[in-house]
Amino acid sequence: MPHACFSLTGRTALVTGSSTGLGLATAECLGRAGAKVAINYANSKARADAALAELRSAGITAEVFQADVTCEHAIDGMFSAIEQSLGPVDVVVANATPPQPMKPIEEYDWAFHQQMLDFFVKSPYLLARRALPGMKARKHGRFINITSEVFLLGVAPFSAYVAAKGGQTGWSRSMCHELAPFGITVNMIAPGWIPVERHEHDPQADKDAYLATIPMQRWGRPEEVGWAAVYLASDEAAFVTGQTIAVNGGKTCW
Ligand SMILES: NC(=O)c1ccc[n+]([C@@H]2O[C@H](COP(=O)([O-])OP(=O)(O)OC[C@H]3O[C@@H](n4cnc5c(N)ncnc54)[C@H](OP(=O)(O)O)[C@@H]3O)[C@@H](O)[C@H]2O)c1
Repeated sequence: MPHACFSLTGRTALVTGSSTGLGLATAECLGRAGAKVAINYANSKARADAALAELRSAGITAEVFQADVTCEHAIDGMFSAIEQSLGPVDVVVANATPPQPMKPIEEYDWAFHQQMLDFFVKSPYLLARRALPGMKARKHGRFINITSEVFLLGVAPFSAYVAAKGGQTGWSRSMCHELAPFGITVNMIAPGWIPVERHEHDPQADKDAYLATIPMQRWGRPEEVGWAAVYLASDEAAFVTGQTIAVNGGKTCW
């Protein structure tokens, strides 16, 4: 049996929305495992450049690619640019998100529902469609879709986000069956609430209330999502597909 160390040396990984938050931590973990990393963002170049500097200072081979991952044309251009500078994309982590306001049903409009579906269903679909011809030819590929524990828990008032994460789950399950014969795996990671930059000003009472529900009695760390991604991206996980790893200190059992 070869020494198992989840090495990603020689692989190229794209993490969408990886200029901050869980995406940045995931990009760093994949890079520390040896992958060449494509950092993606749409809006803040300054933040993406800071992320790139952070990864490079850790000795990781990385480049930044600006693209709105809900736009087919932008995804196509990003893949072509990655292929030129880092090589064919072996690992796709669909992670990007816009802000996720919690509101009662009557206060959401369809435009927001559509935005959630664009990020969590349309984007993974567009990413897969662009990545698949190469992956099928190479008989290898890894899709890791970042979902959330909220789909299992039905958290409220969060209906638009929960619905879109549910759609993403259905898409991932069907993809897994369709792509397994090609040696391509499709898995999900379902984090619990793991505070990142955008949660800085959330009410302390909300944070305390959530923390009290985590069996492990501590907050998750962004890199704990990243290490799960390293496993799912590795050769050692070749026979694992259609699965969801909850990274939430034991709050849910899937
Ligand atoms: N953090 C949590 O507690 C938690 C819990 C469960 C699930 N999740 C899931 O984990 C994923 C990451 O969440 P996060 O909390 O880490 O988010 P975040 O910190 O807000 O980061 C979002 C990332 O997406 C990028 N982005 C936004 N719009 C984009 C677009 N159109 N195209 C490409 N990139 C875009 C942002 O950069 P720019 O704005 O500069 O483009 C940023 O890099 C999401 O799928 C989320 O649903 C998070």
